[in-house]
Amino acid sequence: MEKTLIVSKIKNGIVIDHIPAGKALKVLKVLGLRGPEGYRISLVMNVESKKLGRKDIVKIENKYLSRQELSLVALIAPSATINVIKDYEVVEKYKVTLPDMITGLIKCPNPTCISRKRNEPITSKFYVLKKEKIMLECYYCGTMISGEEIEKYITV
Ligand code: CTP
Ligand code: ZN
Repeated sequence: MEKTLIVSKIKNGIVIDHIPAGKALKVLKVLGLRGPEGYRISLVMNVESKKLGRKDIVKIENKYLSRQELSLVALIAPSATINVIKDYEVVEKYKVTLPDMITGLIKCPNPTCISRKRNEPITSKFYVLKKEKIMLECYYCGTMISGEEIEKYITV
């Protein structure tokens, strides 16, 4: 049990909890949150967690996540839990999950892949082979991407 809260509870919005330690800034990056958008955001990094040893937490007030945004969070932080807060109460709690197939969002590492040809109107497409310890496979050329290298290929 935590004895004190490092950052206050929020009234409305989302708490992204159980983010692997050190990944909070990357989660904000894929969500396109840089600051000037004006959302009130609290970050907690490298705090003790029963499940993970250490974890990060991101609280975003008055924001809710689309399906696409949830996939992006899952790519960076497969262990994350989303808590939806309404009037100070957790009204919904779920783990992020990846869909079986990801369209767009990721660039194939293979420079000769058809999805990277400039003149072809082909959107990238990846099979999600493993969802926890992420492994993706390009639908077009079979190139694999593991969780550790995925950040390099996220295109948003
Ligand atoms: N939280 C918040 N503002 C609220 C309610 C909750 O910032 N009004 C945060 C809590 O600080 C916690 C997370 O949302 O980081 C989840 O809250 P809760 O479910 O109450 O905590 P736990 O039971 O510890 O969650 P879990 O079992 O998922 O670890
Ligand atoms: Zn490919």
